[in-house]
Amino acid sequence: MNRKITAIAALTLGLASAAVYAAKPADIIAARQANFKVIGKSFKGIMDEMRKPAPDMAMIKASANALAGGSSKVSGYFPKGSGPEAGAKTHALPAIWAKNADFKKSAANLVAASKKMQLAANSNNIDTVKAAFPALGGTCKGCHDQFKAKD
Ligand code: HEC
Repeated sequence: MNRKITAIAALTLGLASAAVYAAKPADIIAARQANFKVIGKSFKGIMDEMRKPAPDMAMIKASANALAGGSSKVSGYFPKGSGPEAGAKTHALPAIWAKNADFKKSAANLVAASKKMQLAANSNNIDTVKAAFPALGGTCKGCHDQFKAKD
């Protein structure tokens, strides 16, 4: 009985991962760009609030949460074959796959910086948020300079 359940579970999992691999590169590219739009909007949301005379900490927290959520998904959105060769419009450079360890490190830097921003937002102290912001922005630039084509 147990064996049968294990076999069924394995089959189900196998099918689930097959479905992931069956996703067309164009769909993956669209999904990752949508995720970067969330990241970009959240990043700007924090910056806009920071510049106000009376920043809204609840807005900053919401943006920091969205940013951290989006950041944790970045590295999963770059399977092999989802670069310029896929034929869909993308700013992803081939270097992402040629220097994949560097790219993954860059994505991990974003995850770490976005978690720090979440902690800063939860401190309810705007100065802590302001102090965490440049390092966060540095992770965007660090990756874009190496791995994202200019417009
Ligand atoms: C690990 C690398 C990496 C990091 C870190 C990174 N990006 Fe990007 N970003 C990319 C790549 C690659 C693209 C191009 C994706 C594509 O076109 O398929 C992109 C695209 C974008 C886009 C355009 C989305 C669209 O298609 O409209 C925005 C906006 C963006 N990033 C914002 C940010 C911000 C803000 C940060 C930092 C908080 C950041 N990114 C961090 C690699 C990164």
